[in-house]
Amino acid sequence: MKEMMYHVAVLFVLAVVGVNCEGNSTASTNVTNVNWKESNICRHCICKDEKINCFDQSISTFFTEEEWADVAEFKPKAIDFSENLIRNVTAFSTLPVQVLNLSRCAIEIIENASFKDLQSMNTLDLSHNKLTSAKLSPHAFEGRFSPEEYEPLAAMRTLSLAYNDLHSLNQDLFEHLPELTELDLSGNPLTTIDHVTVIAISSLPMLKVLRLRSCQLTEIPEKFLHTPRYLERLDISDNKLVAVPDELQETKNLIYLNLNQNPIVELDSSSEDRPGFPRLRKLQELHMCNMNSLVRIGAGALAGLENLERLHMSFNPKLGYIDPKALARPDDIGETYDWPLIKELYLQSNNLTEIDSRLLSRWDLLQKLDVTNNPFLCDCSTQWMVDMLVPIAEKRLVNSTEKMV
Ligand SMILES: *[C@@H]1O[C@H](CO)[C@@H](O)[C@H](O)[C@H]1NC(C)=O
Ligand SMILES: *[C@@H]1O[C@H](CO)[C@@H](O)[C@H](O)[C@H]1NC(C)=O
Ligand SMILES: *[C@@H]1O[C@H](CO)[C@@H](O)[C@H](O)[C@H]1NC(C)=O
Ligand SMILES: *[C@@H]1O[C@H](CO)[C@@H](O)[C@H](O)[C@H]1NC(C)=O
Ligand SMILES: *[C@@H]1O[C@H](CO)[C@@H](O)[C@H](O)[C@H]1NC(C)=O
Ligand SMILES: *[C@@H]1O[C@H](CO)[C@@H](O)[C@H](O)[C@H]1NC(C)=O
Ligand SMILES: *[C@@H]1O[C@H](CO)[C@@H](O)[C@H](O)[C@H]1NC(C)=O
Repeated sequence: MKEMMYHVAVLFVLAVVGVNCEGNSTASTNVTNVNWKESNICRHCICKDEKINCFDQSISTFFTEEEWADVAEFKPKAIDFSENLIRNVTAFSTLPVQVLNLSRCAIEIIENASFKDLQSMNTLDLSHNKLTSAKLSPHAFEGRFSPEEYEPLAAMRTLSLAYNDLHSLNQDLFEHLPELTELDLSGNPLTTIDHVTVIAISSLPMLKVLRLRSCQLTEIPEKFLHTPRYLERLDISDNKLVAVPDELQETKNLIYLNLNQNPIVELDSSSEDRPGFPRLRKLQELHMCNMNSLVRIGAGALAGLENLERLHMSFNPKLGYIDPKALARPDDIGETYDWPLIKELYLQSNNLTEIDSRLLSRWDLLQKLDVTNNPFLCDCSTQWMVDMLVPIAEKRLVNSTEKMV
């Protein structure tokens, strides 16, 4: 009994001290309200401008929920915890954080519902860690109870899991992230996208940006891109794709596609194994660069890209032939052709001996052009290049004709 009274007395004293320090009577009853400046976190990290910056501080043990609670008054909007040595992520306290960077730590385990009290978090960067398919559980992303959705982290939009050790995704991995619009899975050894991974991606109807660079992919399976019907940007560069994936026909809203560094040998609309592109009416920007195997672009291979504006087809050392009708699409009657109105054309450092004047219909609409570093031949058929293209190139890109051989 005596002991209890002693405790009450101590509490009372602390409360009075609180009043004196803060000079704010509304906080007078709150004894747990530690000044954030003296918190353990703000002593290890820089707490400034609504940001907690713990970048590269050799922190090896993650802060506890109580320690996070001590910085609540600071009201951080961003936490940069990248480049540290933590292996386990544990629960945060309630904080108004929008961007959380946990990149480049050595994270292996994310405990259940670690981010539950970060209800404003829209961006989570978990790239360059040691997450594995076995240990990364859907429960890691568990949020608070909601009557409409399944314990969502409702503000989450952008998630990076790039450069971890994921061979496959748990089919329910994103069940608590219903509004995810941007996902980066680059640099994971997916190799083949298996059935459960297809289900995981199919649970993201709002996805707009998907990055799968350097995932050792040999193909894009059927149904993979069926559900994310608003997909606008897709990066499947540096994989082992030998053809333009058929599944791209599902991506009706695609604006940007990066196919760089894939071992595609040729595009030929008349070939079954190596067809050109399906009809992607909204595609504006295509990248096919650094493709060491690419030799030839056949007639009509790019004809489905009727609104293409920017074509990047450079640094393909074997690319010696682009058909004059590569971009030409027969109109509905089949009598004349339509061409996309290209604004930027990059064909530098290929093995092209000429650029056919029929490749585009409106060279005058070009805003940027780079065709340097190709072994162009000088004969009658290429005279138009000297007459037409060189002046355009000179106008649009300073010094670009210097390296025209
Ligand atoms: C006390 O703190 C509250 C909340 O931080 C603030 O709105 C209020 O203006 C403060 N009052 C005084 C007298 O400093
Ligand atoms: C004390 O402060 C914390 C953090 O701001 C707050 O969550 C809690 O409700 C406060 N407690 C009281 C009794 O005011
Ligand atoms: C990390 O989590 C694992 C599994 O939950 C646990 O066994 C281990 O003790 C934790 N390590 C640290 C440093 O907290
Ligand atoms: C996270 O930090 C890394 C390394 O410091 C940085 O490269 C990356 O851009 C950051 N991510 C976000 C979302 O800001
Ligand atoms: C995480 O949650 C799941 C489902 O509620 C449970 O089966 C599992 O034991 C939990 N893991 C830990 C480490 O609490
Ligand atoms: C470039 O094309 C020429 C023929 O025009 C051919 O002899 C040469 O092997 C090609 N170079 C490469 C790297 O494919
Ligand atoms: C163009 O070339 C000239 C002469 O080689 C050089 O002095 C100038 O800096 C170059 N301009 C640009 C924009 O590269």
